[in-house]
Amino acid sequence: MNIKDLEVIDNCDEVDFEEVNHILNFYGLSDLDTPTQEKVFRNSYVTVFLRYEDKIVGVGRAISDGITHASIYNIAVRDEYRGQGIGKVIIDEILKRVKGCTVTLYTHPRHIGLYEHWGFRRMKTSYAIFHNEGYYEKQGFIE
Ligand SMILES: CC(C)(COP(=O)(O)OP(=O)(O)OC[C@H]1O[C@@H](n2cnc3c(N)ncnc32)[C@H](O)[C@@H]1OP(=O)(O)O)[C@@H](O)C(=O)NCCC(=O)NCCS
Repeated sequence: MNIKDLEVIDNCDEVDFEEVNHILNFYGLSDLDTPTQEKVFRNSYVTVFLRYEDKIVGVGRAISDGITHASIYNIAVRDEYRGQGIGKVIIDEILKRVKGCTVTLYTHPRHIGLYEHWGFRRMKTSYAIFHNEGYYEKQGFIE
């Protein structure tokens, strides 16, 4: 795969959400049904989908006020396409669309280090009220 051949799509009307949901469910990043997943993306300020040879190979989204703050969620790359730079393209395409904003995210403990590699700084003062707190405790997001 050549990264230059990736098609960047930011319009929800142009993608099949069965495909999007399949990628997110595969990693356990979501257990939503497809219509609900579609609503989640449509309600987001930025959506990015990368298509390669008629297949969605990467997805991501950000919620934002469009001026001051944005938060990134649901970054995922189709398994057989990981490690080829697609994740970085998704992040860069999202960042372009929230230029000027402070951008935050939290990641699964297994990806600690990845976002520093991509230029994010570790935060010392973040707090969250998690829906389904037990899951996040078990997975090591919180103590
Ligand atoms: C996380 C994910 C989106 C990354 O996408 P990807 O396309 O595989 O990533 P890329 O190929 O763009 O980038 C990988 C780079 O990060 C580096 N990297 C990966 N893990 C790292 C870590 N823990 N610490 C530092 N660097 C790391 C790699 O060495 C590589 O560097 P290089 O491009 O300079 O060679 C993808 O692996 C994925 O879909 N994972 C499963 C879904 C998931 O858990 N998503 C949640 C993320 S919050």
